[in-house]
Amino acid sequence: MKVLVIGSGGREHALAWKLAQSARVHSVTLAPGNGGTRRNPVFHHLDISDPQALCQWAQQETIDLTVVGPEAPLAAGVVDVFRAQGLRIFGPTRAAAQLESSKAFSKAFMKRHRIPTAEYDTFTDAALAHAYIDRMGAPIVVKADGLAAGKGVVVAMTLAEAHEAVDFMLLDNSLGVQHNAGGARVVIEEFLQGEEASFIAVCQGTTALPLATSQDHKRLQDADLGPNTGGMGAYSPAPVVTPEVHARAMRDIIVPTLQGMAQDGIPYSGFLYAGLMIDAEGRPKTLEFNCRMGDPETQPIMMRLKSDLFELLWAATDSQGPEALQQFDLQWDRRAALGVVMAAAGYPFNPRKGDVVTGLPADQEQAMVFHAGTTLSGDQLQVTGGRVLCVTALGDSVKAAQSLAYQTLQGIQFDGMQFRRDIGSRAIKS
Ligand code: AMP
Ligand code: GLY
Repeated sequence: MKVLVIGSGGREHALAWKLAQSARVHSVTLAPGNGGTRRNPVFHHLDISDPQALCQWAQQETIDLTVVGPEAPLAAGVVDVFRAQGLRIFGPTRAAAQLESSKAFSKAFMKRHRIPTAEYDTFTDAALAHAYIDRMGAPIVVKADGLAAGKGVVVAMTLAEAHEAVDFMLLDNSLGVQHNAGGARVVIEEFLQGEEASFIAVCQGTTALPLATSQDHKRLQDADLGPNTGGMGAYSPAPVVTPEVHARAMRDIIVPTLQGMAQDGIPYSGFLYAGLMIDAEGRPKTLEFNCRMGDPETQPIMMRLKSDLFELLWAATDSQGPEALQQFDLQWDRRAALGVVMAAAGYPFNPRKGDVVTGLPADQEQAMVFHAGTTLSGDQLQVTGGRVLCVTALGDSVKAAQSLAYQTLQGIQFDGMQFRRDIGSRAIKS
């Protein structure tokens, strides 16, 4: 079988690495991949991103299965384009990807289908948004509608911060959000308290097979300080997702979401990622949906996956229906896995390019370095910005995985590198 993986991040490196382990997979091509995947002769590469051109190439090369990593190609309709040509691809259609690409869509969807989430309202008019904030008080959360690379959310602890967020989202668009039809729009919602977890399922229609649980660390600095990022580290499993929380997340969120999408005439297939906020009583609410795997959650999850990822996604794209997915026996390594992200100087606001990465350890069964923002220049590995590497390790406990991950990253060096020293701390009882 020939497989195509679309994307260039640590998530795609981890997916490609796992797919390549399948006995049924003969070749894995990444479009475009990164410096780490390009250094590995196992992988092929392709510098095309346009969905139509990718589809043409996949037809010519008789690609058997395409797996989409990031949200942008999904929101651009890559699944629709491939399916129209009869190609097998795992991911939601453009319409279904609105669960992530439009906060206004996903909030209205959750309300309509009674899926637990924060109370909210939607605004295009700044004066009305300001008045709403004054009425509701702080803390309050302001979210840009449209894809913003994980940076379109302001958790405002004061009224002033909330007003400022409305102005830069509705009036200035200093984040460069890709607006949906109708222009700039914000969702303003109730501030929820609790602990977050990432709940990701492999879905086809109304069938969902949940993956191992995970948790990421969104803030740049230790102790959850500093700005929000795409994620600075993650681990699996997440102890906060007890069997009871897990059952509630499936019953109250994942299953009704898939049923609601089917009812609304936009059946969902692909990875469905619910960002959960779990309150002190163990009740999960949906902070957001993503229509893809998490990054960096994928890296520890893939290290723990014992089943064949190709077989799993092959089952999930079976045109005969969901039976193959329903019968799939998902096996996990009992060990925990933990990944520490190393980011470029200036990340997340103004990441620097060109720094040289040295001291990478060889990959091992228990410790892998997944690449993201790297490129090969001759033999030299250079930073291309953003999150650069995710050093991921297995261990008998989250603590053991944490020790090995930090031990593994010790020799790695690039100017201005930033990483947190407390990944996994919430899951480790001292
Ligand atoms: P989102 O992209 O919607 O997941 O938001 C990014 C981050 O902002 C989340 O991971 C939370 O840490 C935080 N956040 C989002 N919505 C809320 C909320 N309603 N209450 C508290 N924190 C939130
Ligand atoms: N790590 C969070 C995300 O992938 O959205």
